[in-house]
Amino acid sequence: MQNDEAVPCAQPFRAGSFEGQVAVVTGGGTGLGLEVSRGLAALGAKVVIASRSGEHHKALLDEAAERGWHVEAETFDVREVAQVTALAAAVLERHGAVDILVNNAAGNFVCPAERLSERAWRAVLGIVLDGTFYCSREFGRPMLKRGQGQMLNIVATYAWTGMPGVVHSASAKAGVLAMTRTLAAEWGSRGVRVNAVAPGPFESRGAAANLWPDEEVRRRIEGSVPLGRFATADEVAMQCLWMLSPASAYMNGECLVVDGGGWLGKGMWNDGRPIERKKG
Ligand code: HXC
Ligand code: NAP
Repeated sequence: MQNDEAVPCAQPFRAGSFEGQVAVVTGGGTGLGLEVSRGLAALGAKVVIASRSGEHHKALLDEAAERGWHVEAETFDVREVAQVTALAAAVLERHGAVDILVNNAAGNFVCPAERLSERAWRAVLGIVLDGTFYCSREFGRPMLKRGQGQMLNIVATYAWTGMPGVVHSASAKAGVLAMTRTLAAEWGSRGVRVNAVAPGPFESRGAAANLWPDEEVRRRIEGSVPLGRFATADEVAMQCLWMLSPASAYMNGECLVVDGGGWLGKGMWNDGRPIERKKG
């Protein structure tokens, strides 16, 4: 298979380097999940994308048909354990094994903690924390039985820094980070590795609609990143592929930060700006 120049995040990898592998990507029809799915498919993996909306799957299914990639799509709600079990059973029935699970699905919005309703809290915790656990367990069981497999969880740096306005998402991502390390330690000796990637802000329709609805907020966020800009979804997807590639075979329980230095301390004296020393 030719390496496909139309998919930037696939470029550093040898053509066909994921051939023979089956990958499941939750939320694989949009944003980062879409780019990771495109990258895996372009490099030869059989990719199953899964999320609530069939509409979100159409673009990748069309592209796959055009380029000769193997992509399948399933609709499910990651919060519903019966639907997760059914998804895992269907994929295993079709393919016999799953090599890669990317826990990417998420829900998020900005809301002051004191105004957050129980349903709003549950919506985000259900998608991010419960959903990641349900998928890890349901796909983890056959991986453990086979003695082979890997998972990649998408978190965010506020899992350890915290961030005003997203107490639900920060709490859930912190849980997913703890889950990453726990399962890595629990399952590593049985052939199943679990790692995480923590992206900084990158443009996606979901994030833009829920987190930076106007230009001013977007510019403020950009200003907080030492590199002075958002990432592209491709730049983050490339690191996800790296974490899933044989180059990372000895990585387990690790969280790779891809955020332009955004989470680092900016200093009490200079707010991240160059320090000027007054003469005289
Ligand atoms: C306050 C809100 C709200 C908001 C929803 N709710 N949006 N509360 N502010 N902006 C409340 C509702 O009022 C309701 O509570 C409860 O949440 C459930 O709402 P539903 O609409 O019924 O939920 P549901 O249809 O299940 O949708 C889930 C969702 C939605 C999370 C609310 O936004 C979604 O589907 N998001 C998926 C896409 C997404 O968010 N992508 C962003 C990923 S970026 P009440 O009590 O009123 O009934 C990311 C990290 C960014 O995760 C990090 C940046 C550095
Ligand atoms: P996105 O495009 O909105 O992706 C979220 C995906 O999750 C969608 O494809 C959505 O598909 C799916 N999803 C949501 N609820 C679901 C549910 N209940 N069941 C199944 N699937 C569900 O956002 P993104 O920005 O690419 O985010 C991808 C990952 O990166 C997330 O884990 C996010 O937290 C993380 N992240 C993003 C940023 C950023 O700046 N964008 C920063 C740090 C971390 P459906 O609507 O079809 O269900």
